[in-house]
Amino acid sequence: MKPMRALLGFIVLAATLNVSAESGLRLEPAPAKRLDVESLQRGARNFVNYCLNCHSAQYMRYNRLTDFAISEQEIRDNLMFATDKFGSTMTVAMPKADAVAWFGAAPPDLSVEARVRGKDWLYSYLLAFYRDEKAVTGWNNLVFNNVSMPHVLWKLSGVQRLVETEYEDEGKAEAAVTAAKGLALAERINDHKYVVKTLTQEASGTMRPVEYAAFVADLVNYLDYIGEPVRNERIKIGIGVLIYLGILLVFAYALKRAYWKDVH
Ligand code: HEC
Repeated sequence: MKPMRALLGFIVLAATLNVSAESGLRLEPAPAKRLDVESLQRGARNFVNYCLNCHSAQYMRYNRLTDFAISEQEIRDNLMFATDKFGSTMTVAMPKADAVAWFGAAPPDLSVEARVRGKDWLYSYLLAFYRDEKAVTGWNNLVFNNVSMPHVLWKLSGVQRLVETEYEDEGKAEAAVTAAKGLALAERINDHKYVVKTLTQEASGTMRPVEYAAFVADLVNYLDYIGEPVRNERIKIGIGVLIYLGILLVFAYALKRAYWKDVH
């Protein structure tokens, strides 16, 4: 029984670690579907249009975009910069030193970002920008405090404001985070003061909130895909293997019955 108990203990520990890693923060689960080719196409388009001017994806080649049924011509016409080659990686023209001078931090390469931060974090991050006059860019982020990335999607999303509610009791603050419908973050100010931060829509953008959330979900789906493109192959092979084993089981069972018929 000992190894079983150790295993159980490990599972419980792993589960609690997962929750406490971002303690006090309630993330939005990303509704990203890896095998949804249309979502990946839209995500690739969104990435090229809105992110690639600052962020590279140096391990992703343009020609891999044919994985989601985008033709070479479409990629050349709509997604590539004129100077890029079809087989080249998604790099940016902006020199790192300029980026640091302009933003205070260099925009990191996003090839494996989804593996570093996780899908839910990315999805929440892109929903968590709010107006902050004190910030250099005019924007702050509930998931990434004092981020130096401006809210590049604000015309689509509209403008959010921060709402702070104070609590004297840690339990109440945590309960408020759990009960919050969207993103929420609890912070401890001192022993008797906790603040729960949430966001509220102040001005609407060109998209309705659900449309913007879907736009971001596609983008996150794409970022998750480029983090590990072969995973889609693995999932497909896995499904094939399971179907194969299922069929084999039917025959194996029939064979077993045939053998044992004489014994019983
Ligand atoms: C105007 C330039 C610019 C554009 C456009 C831009 N970003 Fe950023 N981004 C930055 C900068 C600068 C940082 C570094 C922020 C920091 O470290 O404070 C950053 C950071 C990030 C991070 C956090 C990285 C980390 O783990 O620390 C993510 C994720 C991200 N950007 C995603 C995106 C996505 C997705 C898009 C497209 C919708 C995008 N960015 C468009 C400048 C930009």
